[in-house]
Amino acid sequence: MNIFLLFLISKILFSNIFIDYFCSLQYFYTGVTQGINFPEFTIVGMMDGEQFLYYDSNIRQAIPKVDWIKNNEGPEYWTRQTKKFQAHEADFKVDIVKLMQGFNQSGGIHTFQRMYGCELDDETGATDGHMQYRYDGADFISLDLRSTSYVAPVKEVLITKQEWDGAEAEYWKNYLTETCIYWLKKYVHYGKISLERKVPPQVSLLQTDSSSPVVCHATGFYPDKVNISWQKDGQKLHEDVDVGETLPNHDGTFQKRAELKVTPDVWKKNQFTCVVEHKSGDPIHMILTEEKIRTNSAGTGASRQNHQSSCFKVPLLEVFIESVYNKVWWRTFHSLVLRTKHFIKLLFKPE
Ligand SMILES: *[C@@H]1O[C@H](CO)[C@@H](O)[C@H](O)[C@H]1NC(C)=O
Ligand SMILES: *[C@@H]1O[C@H](CO)[C@@H](O)[C@H](O)[C@H]1NC(C)=O
Repeated sequence: MNIFLLFLISKILFSNIFIDYFCSLQYFYTGVTQGINFPEFTIVGMMDGEQFLYYDSNIRQAIPKVDWIKNNEGPEYWTRQTKKFQAHEADFKVDIVKLMQGFNQSGGIHTFQRMYGCELDDETGATDGHMQYRYDGADFISLDLRSTSYVAPVKEVLITKQEWDGAEAEYWKNYLTETCIYWLKKYVHYGKISLERKVPPQVSLLQTDSSSPVVCHATGFYPDKVNISWQKDGQKLHEDVDVGETLPNHDGTFQKRAELKVTPDVWKKNQFTCVVEHKSGDPIHMILTEEKIRTNSAGTGASRQNHQSSCFKVPLLEVFIESVYNKVWWRTFHSLVLRTKHFIKLLFKPE
């Protein structure tokens, strides 16, 4: 990854505070001057800290990053977003030139960022919004929702403040308090629908070699609750059966296995059946026969990549794992950024 990109991301991340128990919808716009290996303009849309949407000046298209938006919004949505983002890209290119003039800069690499979004407390219904700009990583201007006016920390920005107070401030206040909340609620709903979906398991019988246990493997199901057992001549077996834990797949579905310790001469004399019960449909009965056994044991690995955000009301344990995961990631990232920051400062000193 480009070291400059790291710098930009760190600037974005450290300037925002996400409150855990809120649902939040955030957009990050970054404009950079030409001359580095990074798109001149990028937009990242985040729902509860998870990226769901992306746009940049190279692809010139808004694209989905998660299933819940892919499954719930059609071509009109993406066309509309793309048009809007292309217009914002054009504005940003003009803004950055004006800013360089305002700061009396004739060249060099400069960044202009807009961060805005809204939050919703699912329990109380309380909402909030924020909007801020940064130029070369420093606070540039921000919108005060209560007074519907811009706050400018440095004198170079006063002209911009005068220009933006009024219609521009009204527009963004309305956007943050109405439109943004409307979409936030809609996206929360999408997330919940995709969590309520039911996907049936695919069941297969696996064995490494004729002396190893027969594995009844169920995978690709959603939600995670499943009963998997072995029957001998129609009776549930308790001995010689080893039921594994339910594991997540990379696509958000789950898998589980039940091992049966049995010798070929025993299972050829009796009827062994693997029964998988899942609320997506009737129980699946898989009778153990030689033809049904697959000896290829590959492809059963699981990994945790799927992020479920807290406002989609996932089970507590999931949230806990996810937040620990994020904190570990955050700490690693933070120390990396601190170490590279000084170096970057030297590299990208204005002028
Ligand atoms: C702008 O930069 C030029 C050249 O560096 C300098 O001569 C001039 O005084 C600067 N103007 C302001 C207003 O800072
Ligand atoms: C699993 O078995 C238990 C006890 O028999 C039952 O209450 C539960 O509904 C079953 N779960 C599924 C997903 O079929």
